[in-house]
Amino acid sequence: MRTQVAIIGAGPAGLLLSQLLDLAGVDSVVLERQSRAHVEGRIRAGVLEDQFQTLLRRAGVADRMDAQGELHDGVTLAMGERRLRIDLRGLTGRTVCIWGQTELTRDLFAAREARGGAVLDEAGEVALHDIEGERPWVSYRRHGTEGRLDCDFVAGCDGYHGVSRRSAPPGRIGTRELVYPFGWLGVLSETPPVERELIYSAHARGFALCSMRSRTLSRYYVQVPADTHPEAWPDERFWNELKTRLPDEVAARLATGPAVEKSVAPLRSFVASPMRHGRLFLAGDAAHIVPPTGAKGLNLAGSDVHYLSEALIAWYRDGDASPLEAYSDRALGRVWKAQRFSWWMTRLLHNFDDDPPFERRLKEAEFDYLAGSEAAQTSLAENYVGLPY
Ligand code: APR
Ligand code: PHB
Repeated sequence: MRTQVAIIGAGPAGLLLSQLLDLAGVDSVVLERQSRAHVEGRIRAGVLEDQFQTLLRRAGVADRMDAQGELHDGVTLAMGERRLRIDLRGLTGRTVCIWGQTELTRDLFAAREARGGAVLDEAGEVALHDIEGERPWVSYRRHGTEGRLDCDFVAGCDGYHGVSRRSAPPGRIGTRELVYPFGWLGVLSETPPVERELIYSAHARGFALCSMRSRTLSRYYVQVPADTHPEAWPDERFWNELKTRLPDEVAARLATGPAVEKSVAPLRSFVASPMRHGRLFLAGDAAHIVPPTGAKGLNLAGSDVHYLSEALIAWYRDGDASPLEAYSDRALGRVWKAQRFSWWMTRLLHNFDDDPPFERRLKEAEFDYLAGSEAAQTSLAENYVGLPY
């Protein structure tokens, strides 16, 4: 097979890139290791910045989001019994939309199918070849048959564990990583969310988060040691711990129910640089991972895809190579600012066992400063709703 852009990975980054390129007349083929059903079944957060919403509308995949997604004007931080609502709309004029990544991925798959886009799922053993030359190609194995895809460019959208980043010769793509000594134990329950907006709660026993997927589907998290197994947390233990870490008034209103999904996610900060090598360009989790505290993972995949799609379209439409040359620096500029914000939120809200007493008291002072300063709240708000593309 031959295409202009070979895209590795049918997550949000790969599918959105394929859709945006297609709408501009640039041909692509997506190679995905898992089945479509597996990809669509993933439970992932969906706190969408307004710029990402705009990108999805441009891609023609925002109808269900606009009809069913929930716009949130604010978000609450709690520390012990204290609660501080950050007025996103009042401070920035902007909001975020709650629309699960599961739903978004389904919309993207449906859009690619509607336009006859080539998304080859269950494509195993993907390997990149000649990415340093002008005629890269990708080999893969699908349904028992070896395949070869010749292309002009390869977009590595295959996530943190993907093959793309590792296909560059050793040392050509550097990495920086920070691994946190804890994870998030998450529960999905068919219960009404305890609050209309999200609550990020810092407590002496650890962090907790109250989120949702809809008015009838809630998503809750508690900070746990990194090596925690979900089986060690029967539902009752989870609900009791969550209530302990929330302000009393909130805990009293919490509707509990059976966990329809329960899993532990590790927390890490990771950046690969540069986000390209030769004709290989990385986007999304393939290039960076943020701790989920700032809800930036999906939104960074969005800004990467915005920059990369524009650059590839400039190449094919105008023969202009400069946006492609600028892609890595441009994307990394926004990635590192989102890394900073995610790291700051994670430090502020989580218990670090090795935090000396002075550090713990500093966090209380940080909360006090936030509570008393519109400037500090505006800084948090402008990062949460998303810095400019
Ligand atoms: N070959 C083909 N496909 C692969 C390979 C491989 N070797 N390795 C991984 N993949 C696929 C995965 O199965 C997955 O569907 O690449 C896709 C990567 O998708 P994501 O991990 O969702 O990454 P991305 O599209 O960048 O989206 C980032 O997803 O993980 C969340 O928090 C993250 O919300 C953020 C978003
Ligand atoms: C979620 O709803 O899963 C969620 C929301 C906000 C976050 C992280 C996860 O910061």
